[in-house]
Order: sequence, then C-alpha cells, then structure tokens
Amino acid sequence: MTIEEFVYTASKQEIKTGSVTWISPSNIALVKYWGKKKDQIPANPSISFTLNNCKTTTTLEFSKKKAAGDITDFDLYFEGSSKPEFKPKINSFFARIEKYCPYIKDYKFTISTENSFPHSSGIASSASGMSALALCIMSLEKELNPAIDEEFFNKKASFLARLGSGSACRSIEGPLIIWGKHVKTENSSDLYGSKYPYEVNDIFKNYQDTILLVDKGTKQVSSSIGHNLMHGHPFAEARFQQAHSNLEKLREIFKSGDLKAFIKIVESEALTLHAMMMSSNPYFILMKPNTLEIINRIWSFREETGLPVCFTLDAGANVHVLYPEKNKSEILEFIKNELVAYCEKEQYLCDEVGKGAEKL
Ligand code: PMV
Repeated sequence: MTIEEFVYTASKQEIKTGSVTWISPSNIALVKYWGKKKDQIPANPSISFTLNNCKTTTTLEFSKKKAAGDITDFDLYFEGSSKPEFKPKINSFFARIEKYCPYIKDYKFTISTENSFPHSSGIASSASGMSALALCIMSLEKELNPAIDEEFFNKKASFLARLGSGSACRSIEGPLIIWGKHVKTENSSDLYGSKYPYEVNDIFKNYQDTILLVDKGTKQVSSSIGHNLMHGHPFAEARFQQAHSNLEKLREIFKSGDLKAFIKIVESEALTLHAMMMSSNPYFILMKPNTLEIINRIWSFREETGLPVCFTLDAGANVHVLYPEKNKSEILEFIKNELVAYCEKEQYLCDEVGKGAEKL
C-alpha cells in the first residue's frame, strides 16, 4: 500500500458522540530497529514477538464540536489523574496523523489510559500506549466509514501507531510481526507492521519472556536521541545490512525451531544494539553492572544445563529472558534463585508471546 491510500477521503456517517476502549500489548524485538529516516521510516527492518501481559488500556471518548477546531483540545487522564505532562507527545501524534485522519479536528476527545505494569518500571509504555490510541482512532474512523475491512483497519492502525512511536506499529497483531522493507519477505513495508508470513515452529508460539527490572529509573538517553545518533554513525551501514541478513537467517530458524541458531541471532542483536550506542558520537551506555551480571549468569546456566535460555535487551538496562514454555519450571526456578537478586527491589514481570490488541 502507498501512503496516499491511508488518507481519509470517504464521506462520513453522522456520529455525534461515542466511546471506545482498546487493550494493546507491548512487544519485544528479536531483530532490532535502531536508526530512522524522516517520518519514522525505519533504517532497517525488524521483527518482534508481541507480548501478552504488559499492556495499555485506553478509552477514547469523542463528541462532535460545533465547528472543526484545534486538535490540541483534548483531556488526558493517566490511571485516573489528569496528566498535562503527557500531552506534548499526544499533541505531536495528533499533528502527525491529522493529514491521514482529518476528522480528528471535528471531535473533542477525552483519553483515559492505564498500564498493566508499574509506570516507573523502566518498561517503555510507548509501544502499547501509542498502538492503543491508534486503534481507538481507527474505531472512530470505522464508525465514520463502516465500509473499511479488518485488513485495512489493522494496517492503518499500525501505520498511525508508527507515527506515534516506531516500534508501536508492531503491537497491533501477533505473534510475530515484521516491520520495515525486507526484499526477502513478501509484503513487508516501511509504513506498517504485518504478521510474519512464513511457517513458524510451534516452539515459538508460546515463547516466554521474563522481564528483569534491573533499573526502574528514567533512561539517560531517550530512544529518539539514540535513533538520531545513527545518522553519520561509522558502523551504521554495516549494522543495517546485518539486520537484513539476520532476518533472512531467521526464516529457516522459525521454521525448524533450531534454538541454538535462534539464540545466536537474538543475543547478537541485543549486544549490537548496545554496541551502536557505545560507539555513537556522543557515546553512551544504558546497561548497568547488574545487566552484565545477569547476562553472564544466563551464559553459565546455559552452558551447565544445555537449556535453551537466552536474553535480549531493549534501549535500557532491563533484561528480557527468553525461553520455550516447555522449560518454564526449571528456568523460572533459576531466575528466582540466581537472577532476581540483581533486579531493583527483586522485581520482575512474567510475560509470553501474545496475539495482539483487543477491543473491549
Ligand atoms: O519505538 P522507539 O522509537 O521507542 O524505538 C525502540 C527501539 C528498540 O526498542 C531499542 C528496538 C525495537 O526494535 O523495539
């Protein structure tokens, strides 16, 4: 699909007021998105597991104004309290989507949102939050134009979510979502995320992700600054090529369920992401000493037991521990006995691969 096809041009049903609620999950990338072009176009393709338990619930109430007006005129509640500090992010989201959803000017919105995970957990809520809001906007669009089908609905929801926060476009559906043009993957697009279209071994369908909360503070460097530092980065081109090649290698791995090969790619992707941060100008480090302790303990445990447990990282110090469901009891035991001590206040979250967002 082209960008123009996402511009709303249909006639509109007369909708005066309404309310819609979506629950949308977070996701964890296996091949990482790091570096972007204008309008949130990724510098390389990425693939992620959609999660199941870390999610945002957003209700959008809308009422038609007497005349089309300012898109910044909305109320925002986070976990029941008014949150003016979250407004600038939503303002820029509305400004970016206005061209594709001109009807947003006709409505006064009240947005009420809450997360299933603690706000100060160091878990980014932008993927679940922006996808939930994009889905609410699409539900309004569907009321205005009931002719749109599910495929277009999901694509445009992902397209809009991307404009809010790049990785959010991978949270609409599940279990494995690819985003970014990859010549070896049919129908992949820079504009939206879509379901991985090839065979996936059953081992990956209920893969576990235990998130170890190593540092719950705010990150010193935001993702948007990090993405921008890939412009002019000495290793950028090689990194982008590597992401293409890792995606190609994963095709056979997803089919066969070869976990040794899976682990090699996933851990290398996580460390490469952080290597890009450490070698940018200015350079920075988001891992903490306990992140490294955990990684080393995972490696020793894997060596000793032969169990297929591995880690990935996002742009922070927390560690995502990934493993098959059939090994859950032994690996959770290991996590509790050996890893939790390295978490802030011994906190961790148990998640697993999920199916995507749900309308309430
Ligand atoms: O969606 P953003 O702009 O917050 O970027 C997220 C980037 C990573 O989480 C580090 C990687 C990814 O692909 O999710």
